[in-house]
Amino acid sequence: MRSEKFGSGQPDVSVIGQGSWYIDRGDRKRAVAALRRGIDLGMTHIDTAEMYGDAELVIAEAIAGRRDELFLVSKVLPSNASRRGTIAACERSLARLKTDRLDCYLLHWRGSYPLSEKERAIEHAVIPWCEQLGVAVVAYSPFGHDNFPSARSKAGQVLGTIAEAHGASPRQIALAFLTRKPAVFAIPKASSEEHAADNAAAGKLSLSDSEVAALDKAFPRGSKPRGLPML
Ligand SMILES: NC(=O)c1ccc[n+]([C@@H]2O[C@H](COP(=O)([O-])OP(=O)(O)OC[C@H]3O[C@@H](n4cnc5c(N)ncnc54)[C@H](OP(=O)(O)O)[C@@H]3O)[C@@H](O)[C@H]2O)c1
Repeated sequence: MRSEKFGSGQPDVSVIGQGSWYIDRGDRKRAVAALRRGIDLGMTHIDTAEMYGDAELVIAEAIAGRRDELFLVSKVLPSNASRRGTIAACERSLARLKTDRLDCYLLHWRGSYPLSEKERAIEHAVIPWCEQLGVAVVAYSPFGHDNFPSARSKAGQVLGTIAEAHGASPRQIALAFLTRKPAVFAIPKASSEEHAADNAAAGKLSLSDSEVAALDKAFPRGSKPRGLPML
């Protein structure tokens, strides 16, 4: 698994990590096994949040005895994000995760999000800005949550052709595409060991310039939204 600096002066973190939204909804043992398998395969960046129901409890079980191997991230809800509220929310997350520290603590979201999420608009200015200032970018829902392009769609066919050339799955190609820049990390959520292993193996893939260009064309960024600075 490839690792990159999680921002300047920060530790090296696996470029493909593990999400946990809804991981508490299915079979608990299966989810714990999937997370453990992912950690064994080098996906040591684990993303959770106080909002994700019992996900922090599932993670606590999966990471028991392995805390030092991990880059553990949780998030405070905007409604709890006063100074005192943030500290209290963090303490609750630490207790649920059965740990004494987080490696990164995030505000889950802002009240209004100015960039369209479907347009890859972040690539016009936010990623270049983060690259310039040494800030890590984490791609959540790297498979579109439950909306991965179908194999029959035009864009899905491009993914499929590239996947075939690499002996990989289309999702692995999507992860390799997202993490092609050292500043960008991805956190797919998997609730089976099979999916966790599939995602971890994407950490070894690298795409050629022409494959990146073909994916760029198949999933257009759209035009630069007005008001974004040039970098
Ligand atoms: N604002 C935020 O900070 C924010 C927002 C959204 C998400 N997130 C984080 O990002 C993580 C990932 O996003 P997400 O959970 O929305 O969705 P996702 O990772 O884009 O997709 C998850 C879906 O993909 C399936 N899957 C995973 N690996 C697969 C594979 N190798 N082959 C086939 N299917 C596979 C999962 O199925 P199985 O479960 O059956 O394996 C699940 O249905 C979240 O869990 C959360 O930690 C953060």
